Amino acid sequence: MSSKESRKRSNRRSHKKPKCSTSTSSITDEGSNGSSSTDDYKHYRFRKGEYIKDYKVRRHISDGTFGRVLKVRRKSSKSYAMKIVRSNHAESAQQEADILFYLKKKDLNRYFVEIIDSFYHRGYYCMVFERLGPSLYDMLRMNQDRGIPMNLVRCISRQLLKCIGYLHDIRLTHTDLKPENILFSRIRELKKGQNDLYLPADHKIKIIDLGGAEFDDEDHNCIINTRQYRAPEVQLQCCKWDYKSDVWGIACIIFELYTGHLLFQTRKNEYEHMALVEKITEQNFPYWMASNVKGSLKYCFNTKNVTNGKYYQWPQGTTTKDSILKVQNQKTLREMILDPLLRDLLQKMLEIDPNKRISCFQALDHKFFCN
Ligand SMILES: Nc1ncnc2c1ncn2[C@@H]1O[C@H](COP(=O)(O)OP(=O)(O)O)[C@@H](O)[C@H]1O
Ligand SMILES: [Mg+2]
Repeated sequence: MSSKESRKRSNRRSHKKPKCSTSTSSITDEGSNGSSSTDDYKHYRFRKGEYIKDYKVRRHISDGTFGRVLKVRRKSSKSYAMKIVRSNHAESAQQEADILFYLKKKDLNRYFVEIIDSFYHRGYYCMVFERLGPSLYDMLRMNQDRGIPMNLVRCISRQLLKCIGYLHDIRLTHTDLKPENILFSRIRELKKGQNDLYLPADHKIKIIDLGGAEFDDEDHNCIINTRQYRAPEVQLQCCKWDYKSDVWGIACIIFELYTGHLLFQTRKNEYEHMALVEKITEQNFPYWMASNVKGSLKYCFNTKNVTNGKYYQWPQGTTTKDSILKVQNQKTLREMILDPLLRDLLQKMLEIDPNKRISCFQALDHKFFCN
């Protein structure tokens, strides 16, 4: 990835919350300067040393799209991570807390961040979590877009599929899987190791950020995920998406761990994104998807008088030369992943048709994990 593309990674925005009410949320993933033009609600302004309930603020950890995360300490006991959610997203924050307490009750806090407490403070909804270590995104950024060793790719992928497989078992879809939302359990810093790469001492991961998680029986017609990890059926709005959309996102993450680069290097442009999907996977959108597209992409599909099975009409008259060249020069997954087992696994997880895409537990049975 070019350094320009790499810098753009930090501007990636989740597309979720308020929960699945419309096809466009109040925060878009297209913010160009790290802030959103449509979301003026600020992050909580904290003072070092102030008390929030009985937690003393030590320092800032990180800001997400919706929450500001601080390191806090309760009396003289352990330190925790406190997520303070922007006031206009309090409702989905409460839902995030409900889901995390539910997972804790089901003894799944081995795989997901453990929630300790939740409450309102000056109109802001706060959640107190166990403190975890750096994210996969932090690791990729520190390694300046170089991939990590295969044994670590395998170990993280296996855990990720297992965690999300358990979530799917209880009929929940995460909807916002990306490297920022996967953290190493141990607080310790990444250490320089093999080939000067920054790697974790302990490989155990946990999943965070369940603010957009949806049960199977909830409304599934909205746009979810950050664009680069978004499954085609979500973008095309051609059906009710389900847990298979998480599988697509996990495949994008596994690719990124292995190569250090985003699989779908596109922003702001759903037309180009869909062209890249066809190019990279070497598949065409099937008829049933092409004939049910909604939104602006609808006009790019022709399902009549098509003999070669290619319903997506791209480029169109308005497509820029740059975009045409980008798609033309894009390598396919087959060209980018030379390891045959990893390539086969990713091809099965990146089936355009969600009905043909494998599940997390089927992926875990793949030969790639036999080593
Ligand atoms: N329990 C935690 N321990 C340490 N860091 C955390 C923890 N939870 C979140 N973070 C950091 O804060 C960032 C934002 O948190 P997240 O829950 O993803 O918020 P948002 O919903 O705004 O995306 C994460 O990407 C991570 O870097
Ligand atoms: Mg997040």
